[in-house]
Amino acid sequence: MRVLSGIQPTGRFHWGNYFGAIRQYIDLQNKADDAYYFIANLHALTTVRDKEQLWQLTLDAAIDLVALGLDPDRATLFVQSDVPEVSELCWLLMTGTPMGLLKRCHAYKDKKDKGIDAHAGLFTYPVLQAADILAYDSDTVPVGEDQVQHIEVCRDLAASFNHQFGETFVLPKAYVIDTSARVPGVDGEKMSKSYGNTLEIFEKPKAARKQIMRIKTDSRPMEEPKDPEGDHLYELYSLFADEAARDAMAAKYKAGGFGYGEVKKALAELAEDFFAEAHERRAELESKPEKIREILGDGAAKARKKAGEVLGRAQDACGLKG
Ligand code: TRP
Repeated sequence: MRVLSGIQPTGRFHWGNYFGAIRQYIDLQNKADDAYYFIANLHALTTVRDKEQLWQLTLDAAIDLVALGLDPDRATLFVQSDVPEVSELCWLLMTGTPMGLLKRCHAYKDKKDKGIDAHAGLFTYPVLQAADILAYDSDTVPVGEDQVQHIEVCRDLAASFNHQFGETFVLPKAYVIDTSARVPGVDGEKMSKSYGNTLEIFEKPKAARKQIMRIKTDSRPMEEPKDPEGDHLYELYSLFADEAARDAMAAKYKAGGFGYGEVKKALAELAEDFFAEAHERRAELESKPEKIREILGDGAAKARKKAGEVLGRAQDACGLKG
């Protein structure tokens, strides 16, 4: 199993990112024969148009992933743009990409339906993603449901290249991760950057506690017994608590006679413990900036070697080399 996935650096990671995706990417590093994870800064460039911000987000994403448990000895971690071979491969694929295929892709279609004039980068976004995947002979691509269409495009492009020029690319499969873990935000809606309701993983403990204390709750009186099912504060608590703690908290809800402040305090403590090691690792990485540069440098070298091989194969196949 050769696993590959890209993560866009468009904002700091929050609890929803962790429980919905990152945790599972990291788990896969132990099951795969080979795992490649990269920070998709070329894709982010279609939306992030501020020089300092893009670089800072790229670096932060890399540091966050390592702090959260991505192990550079098990997985190759690199920055997308450090592998220029992929952009070259993207062109080769582009020459065989039907316009109609791209016109049906969500990212572009959604914009167009809203009357927004998309640029070529957004339109051809899925071709670059296909090049990302094919460049490493990846066979397994862990993604959320929303990316399955892009993996299908990748398979189409690879199959048609193989058909025209002979067996060149490995056809990958989407490995759809279960993103259904419901992670509510501070307002009870799904946690999402676009709703502005996130709780960030690497928030300073004091600020994090403050935010947790501000989680919206209903104003039922303290004495009243409450149903934990469907209560978003209880749902958040359950993400971090073990079974015994969950049961004990559920019993308290049902008995009544306590305030939501108590749950929030317990949640803040659990979350702080849960991410304590990651916070420590992050502080350590921040204090030694050369360490993350070394990790990304090694990752890029390894990735370029593989991508160079595959690009060479593709160039040979289509007549770019005598
Ligand atoms: N488009 C993906 C996203 O927005 C990120 C991505 C870029 C990716 N290249 C990839 C994911 C290759 C998987 C494989 O989430």
